[in-house]
Amino acid sequence: MCGIVGYVGKEQAAPILLDGLQKLEYRGYDSAGVCIGNGNQLQVVKAKGRLAHLAELTDGGKSLHGTVGIGHTRWATHGAPSDENSHPHAADQGKIVVVHNGIIENYQKLKEMLQANGKRFHSETDTEVVANLVEYFYDQGFDFKMSVRKAVERIEGSYALGILCRDYPGTIIAVKKDSPLIFGFGDGCSYIASDVPAILKYTRDVAYLNDGDMVIFTDHDALFFDGAGDPITKTPEHITWDTEAAEKGGYEHFMLKEIHEQPKAIRDTLSPRMKDGTIVLDDITLTADYLKKLRRVYAVACGSAYYVGVQSKYIIEKLCQVPVEPVLASEFRYADPVLGEDTLVLIISQSGETADTLAALRLAKEKGARTLAIVNVVGSSIAKLADDVIYTWAGPEIAVATTKAYSTQLAVVDLLALYMAQCLGTVESERFNSLYGELQSLPEKVEQVLDTSVIEKIQYYASRYFNNRDVFYIGRNLDSATCLEGSLKLKEIAYLHSEAYAAGELKHGPISLIEDGTLVVAIATNRALFDKTMSNVKEVKARGAEVLGLTVPSCEEEIHKTVDSVVLIPETDTLFQPNLSIVPLQCFAYYVALMRGCDVDKPRNLAKSVTVE
Ligand code: F6R
Repeated sequence: MCGIVGYVGKEQAAPILLDGLQKLEYRGYDSAGVCIGNGNQLQVVKAKGRLAHLAELTDGGKSLHGTVGIGHTRWATHGAPSDENSHPHAADQGKIVVVHNGIIENYQKLKEMLQANGKRFHSETDTEVVANLVEYFYDQGFDFKMSVRKAVERIEGSYALGILCRDYPGTIIAVKKDSPLIFGFGDGCSYIASDVPAILKYTRDVAYLNDGDMVIFTDHDALFFDGAGDPITKTPEHITWDTEAAEKGGYEHFMLKEIHEQPKAIRDTLSPRMKDGTIVLDDITLTADYLKKLRRVYAVACGSAYYVGVQSKYIIEKLCQVPVEPVLASEFRYADPVLGEDTLVLIISQSGETADTLAALRLAKEKGARTLAIVNVVGSSIAKLADDVIYTWAGPEIAVATTKAYSTQLAVVDLLALYMAQCLGTVESERFNSLYGELQSLPEKVEQVLDTSVIEKIQYYASRYFNNRDVFYIGRNLDSATCLEGSLKLKEIAYLHSEAYAAGELKHGPISLIEDGTLVVAIATNRALFDKTMSNVKEVKARGAEVLGLTVPSCEEEIHKTVDSVVLIPETDTLFQPNLSIVPLQCFAYYVALMRGCDVDKPRNLAKSVTVE
């Protein structure tokens, strides 16, 4: 996630900004930059790469004179990591300079309008549109504040913005919607930042801006306004945490923070692609004509991303009637897969750098298949090589065990399946509309799963079972695919032996491992298969297993008759139920790991990006 810092006061701004940006490094970034105001001069220095490089270019900020400035670390979304795409972005005439976190959904339309009005662009970013939009209104005679207000009225999407205007020396305007931004109260100075650690060294008195809030500040005052433009007052909140806790947003681990970021990550991934009842994937080139000739989809990936591929089989086959074969990337390469123009190879990867997945992509291209990547890291090797990319907007994932990247990959698979169904006409309009509505409501439903009452229940189960020797996850259909990911989470972070089985498969061997007290997690979210799954639960109960059931309210009464304890998740369409069921399983693994004293964010023997074959 990008990081913003802004400062206005009596000190030289650049060293303070660099220091603040360094404290935001944990958020992940690929380029950095600052803009310093010195009288009517706005000087921008920015570069791809580490902050150390920016510090080198500016002699630790000392070579940039001026006591007001904005700084930014960028995590690429629109446009690959490069000097040009780094922030800050100046408008065409250089009157306005902007740093931005978030995603401007209607940037393409705005860009066309601005280009038609003579504005020239030098980057591929959505942010440059904001700078030019503010300048466009400023050119029409509006003052700085009104120009910003008018610009944000036109913007759709999420943003936290720090803005400088050449004609207003010593003033910063900041405004936010759906991206975090805080204001720091100093003595003869003020700050903005996307997160507390950036300014904790300078002030512990902060105000959290709400959506729509704007602040206009200089070294001696700060005026706050709400979304309607009415003046408001902000009372400083005193921060008592230390920097390390602040980096994790108050959460004990990055993994827990990322679990809680899932509603936002899913919303960011879905909402720009869902417009007026249709799925809009205008960044990819798969046409209805191509899809009609499509014979097969291979879903190729490693680890959790592969388990998303397993889910994709059920979802795409059900909605589009196209066969989907999930294959592990490390196997795909040596299996001599049958590939051609009529085969779509879906490559799924958070990092975009996994060696086996990248090699599988190369093979698919060599053999003439069409390739579509679902990737989180913009400009990564897989993103660059694939014919088409759909990005997950999860933001950087710091914890080694994936959570929000998995959830957003699954959300993209849902989008893709609906998009294909829309092109192929394989789903009746009433069913399509119902699926569309359910997909849209997923972020709120994930929020409900993360409700304190559910989490407390899971904590309790974790405390009850954390010493178990083996854990089995069973389920049918999509639930069996969710079992794979739930089980992997427990293995990798809690070092607890666990297996995932399609419930019906248990009696063909693994049931011999069930003994008194063995924990079995039974996922039963599909009404149509509920009785079948319960038969399998009875089989393990008869052998002494302790069963934790995960189900939906419509099956609650019945499941209580068979299992020992229950976790409930909200009801959605059966096809999207995995987006919800995975969340308690992530939390269960997290709390079990905590109770077993494991290093949750950095599990032993594992790396975040596996770049060796
Ligand atoms: C598990 C996990 C791994 C990754 C796998 C693929 O929590 O994170 O299993 O899913 O290594 O990585 P990417 O998605 O970067 O290709």
